Amino acid sequence: MKILVTGGAGFIGANFIIYWLKRHPHDQIINLDKLTYAGNLENLSGVENNPHYRFVHGDICDRPLVDRLVAKVDVILHFAAESHVDRSIIDPAPFVKTNIEGTYVLLEAARKNGKKRFHHISTDEVFGALPLNTAEKFTPQTPYRPHSPYSASKAASDHLVRAYHDTFALPITISNCSNNFGPYQFPEKLIALAVTNLIEDKSVPVYGDGLYVRDWLYVEDHCEAIDLIVHKGTIGETYLLGALSDQSPQRTNLDIIKQIIKMMGKEEGVISFVQDRPGHDRRYAIDWSATAATLGWRPRHRFDEALQLTLAWYQDHQNWWKRVKTGAYRDYYQKQYQS
Ligand code: NAD
Ligand code: TYD
Repeated sequence: MKILVTGGAGFIGANFIIYWLKRHPHDQIINLDKLTYAGNLENLSGVENNPHYRFVHGDICDRPLVDRLVAKVDVILHFAAESHVDRSIIDPAPFVKTNIEGTYVLLEAARKNGKKRFHHISTDEVFGALPLNTAEKFTPQTPYRPHSPYSASKAASDHLVRAYHDTFALPITISNCSNNFGPYQFPEKLIALAVTNLIEDKSVPVYGDGLYVRDWLYVEDHCEAIDLIVHKGTIGETYLLGALSDQSPQRTNLDIIKQIIKMMGKEEGVISFVQDRPGHDRRYAIDWSATAATLGWRPRHRFDEALQLTLAWYQDHQNWWKRVKTGAYRDYYQKQYQS
């Protein structure tokens, strides 16, 4: 299979490419990535010499480039996005451009090049927020009610993808996944930020009262789900992906920060309560039973075990995240590809 991965230099995309080349060593992957601040080719240094892998530096909004690349592949796996809620509050413009227009450009290329198979990687944040201390979860029937420019732009992209199926019979699937964590996550997202700050003896910022709940999924489990969707998914279907529900779905940000502090032998005095995020979604929880029933997918990792793996990874890869925090990772492309 020949695959175009967009956004493969980011957190989930890089984990996915590493995962896929191990599981499907005969497939070919083209990775199209603009290398925004979130794109880091050091994530892929282990596969850069693999003859089944090719990196293309470019923008998903670049129509001629996207057209050329889409013509070469059988499947498009669309990860590329602006992904950080806080950045979308500071400046929504790149979110609208990349997440909406970029998705449209890819869909058009897929449609015009013989209706290529298209899988869209999306988020549970499109559904809005659930109240605390209820058993309610997002299901495939939950109406869209996004609150941040990030989630609104992802919601728009989901609608476009579905419209291309319904109107043009483009063979699409969508996955709406909960918060991921694990290796190579940019240290601006909660768990990566907390772990790296604690290693550096810095404080950990907790927004508002800290009583916000996310449905944390280990990134490798997300990669496995996409693999199953590509091979066994039903065209036109939307798959919800989330963590094991016996991991205490009501675990708050504050609980998680305290757990990490304890695991790292630090004191709770490092917690710094800071101003809340505007429009902050209180709780996310996913009912992925339909995905389990149709694809046989379920997460392999329990939260505590995955958190341990993640902590160990950040302890063992200090050079990786220190280069991210200082910005030195940006030199890598220059050295590797332009010298
Ligand atoms: P990320 O921010 O770590 O990586 C995004 C990647 O996309 C980067 O490599 C960046 O350079 C690239 N990119 C951005 N704009 C581009 C453009 N115009 N053209 C080409 N490349 C571009 O994001 P992530 O956390 O890996 O998320 C990947 C996908 O998964 C996103 O679509 C996101 O909405 C979705 N998702 C993320 C999570 C999560 O918890 N991180 C959860 C559910 C869904
Ligand atoms: P984040 O990792 O940004 O993911 P998302 O906003 O997509 O869910 O944030 C996860 C939760 O952690 C969210 O409730 C906001 C909160 N948070 C903090 O309390 N402090 C922080 O420094 C960050 C980055 C997030």
